[in-house]
Amino acid sequence: MCGIVAYVGNKEAYSLILKGLKRLEYRGYDSSGVALLENGELNIYKKKGKVSELEAGLAGKELHATIGIGHTRWATHGEPNDVNAHPHFSNNRKLAVVHNGIIENYAAIKKNLISKGHTFQSETDTEVLIHFIEDIQAETGDSLESAVKLALKEVVGAYAIVVMSVDQPGQLIAARKGSPLVIGIGEEEYFFASDATPIIAYTKNVVYLDDYEVAVVRDGKLSIQNLDNTETIPYIQKLEMELEAIEKGGYDHFMIKEIFEQPRSIADSMRGRLRSSDSHLQLGGLSNHLDKLAQAERIVIVACGTSWHAGLVAEYLFEELARINVEVEYASEFRYRNPVIKENDIVIAISQSGETADTLAAIELAKSKGATIFGVCNVVGSSIARATHAGAYTHAGPEIGVASTKAFTAQVTVLTLIALATAKQKGTISEEVFRQLLTELENIPDKVEKVFENASKIKEIAFIFTYARNFIYLGRGLNFPVALEGALKLKEISYIHAEGYPAAEMKHGPIALIDEDMPVVFLATKDSSYEKIVSNIQEVKARKGRVIAIVTEGDTLIPGMVDFVIEVPETHEILTPLVSVIPLQLLSYYIAVMRGRNVDQPRNLAKSVTVE
Ligand code: F6R
Repeated sequence: MCGIVAYVGNKEAYSLILKGLKRLEYRGYDSSGVALLENGELNIYKKKGKVSELEAGLAGKELHATIGIGHTRWATHGEPNDVNAHPHFSNNRKLAVVHNGIIENYAAIKKNLISKGHTFQSETDTEVLIHFIEDIQAETGDSLESAVKLALKEVVGAYAIVVMSVDQPGQLIAARKGSPLVIGIGEEEYFFASDATPIIAYTKNVVYLDDYEVAVVRDGKLSIQNLDNTETIPYIQKLEMELEAIEKGGYDHFMIKEIFEQPRSIADSMRGRLRSSDSHLQLGGLSNHLDKLAQAERIVIVACGTSWHAGLVAEYLFEELARINVEVEYASEFRYRNPVIKENDIVIAISQSGETADTLAAIELAKSKGATIFGVCNVVGSSIARATHAGAYTHAGPEIGVASTKAFTAQVTVLTLIALATAKQKGTISEEVFRQLLTELENIPDKVEKVFENASKIKEIAFIFTYARNFIYLGRGLNFPVALEGALKLKEISYIHAEGYPAAEMKHGPIALIDEDMPVVFLATKDSSYEKIVSNIQEVKARKGRVIAIVTEGDTLIPGMVDFVIEVPETHEILTPLVSVIPLQLLSYYIAVMRGRNVDQPRNLAKSVTVE
């Protein structure tokens, strides 16, 4: 969702901020803008649409400034238009702000400010915040920094903000609560951004701001205090990310780059953690907690979207391998129920971005009830990673395409490792099966690579179904969550309606949809449900449905029954999702490209869903 980039130093702020905003495009947005201090004047330029439209509108203009703030906005309060875009001015136009998050009590504050004569240009909560800061500064006569702190003590909601003032030409003030903000420290220059991607080209030294912290850059120095003025020493970390990881590297889209990266990203998620030759399996962040996991009566998994699908795969894994009862919850539903959580429950939160608002809130709720929370996150240092008691990073590398691909397979891999380690600790798995699974996990990257040999065949199938209006995805057992994931991938990037179902459930309703125009994707690999899925295929074929089947290499039965087959290499049943999901990712990608969709930034979607 919204993205912030701000800069103070010696470079040209405009081009640097614009480049940074382009790096943040993947988060999803519908307008953008910058505020620059040019020759003692605070100017704001903003526009509905893509950053390139803002850039085109400013082409030919001499924009010279060494300090500025920029923003990509994903509309919440008020429609996406030029006026609602950030930055926003204060009433006297001396202050400007960019803001991610939502100020929940903005209406009451606005009413009070209007009674004092403030006039507002936009419908946003953000404009109210900067007027409020100006008002406090005027009333108290305090510094801008104090006024920001006082205002933030009054607001309810979530925020990451950066404020600049025409009266303090070298100063930026930033703060966060519930919405991420990273500070990059260069040579006599500072960068602020919603994540590290706009910063990495300039410096690897970063500080992650914590909730309720206010960072001030003044006279070339950074200081951090909390809202009560207690100073903290900035903890400078080294970014491990490389620049090429956030560039397309010759691919047409980030999504296809990330799909093809999976042999490496799956290997990275296991790196240093497992060695089949001596049955070694260790997850650093969780090794002191395995007893707790093994003794858990119940594991509750909270997540959203694709991460929720990875959670459904984990349900099968933990139940099968470690014999622990698992419940998988949509974080958004869990947080608004009154869930029964006991102190010996383990909650596992799964999130690529580590910033998903609902998942974060579900964690806080479970924590308040005394549960132990483990995280499975991709983004290092993210809010969820920091809110959990312990966890394991997925190490998939930055995922820029909005549709999650390599993050899903990395999540499933790490969850498999956690389930295996728990089973070993609990004694619910034999030495032989344990070693067999470790060996097979090591083979998975090569098997995923093998699926790519079918890419051109998948492209041909995609061509045939480019203009389908609906799709059904069916699977059983571990392939049921894969069916859900396949359907989600297709709908989010191609805008074709798609449903995922457990194959046997089809008879209870969706079968009414089957006719010669309905493409049905079957996950039909050779596993314990194979005979059952063959019957389900027959049921669809008897009603003239057009079947695309994902089958195990060498299958001779199903190819004779269906319209199209895509083979995947044989693997242990437990690990099937890691190979069977790959053709579904490719199918969605090729269909979306053929329909001319914006694959990496589908309409209405955001990569990091920081509002509930
Ligand atoms: C789908 C997708 C979303 C995310 C969901 C949760 O391709 O990317 O469904 O999986 O928004 O996001 P994270 O994993 O960042 O918590």
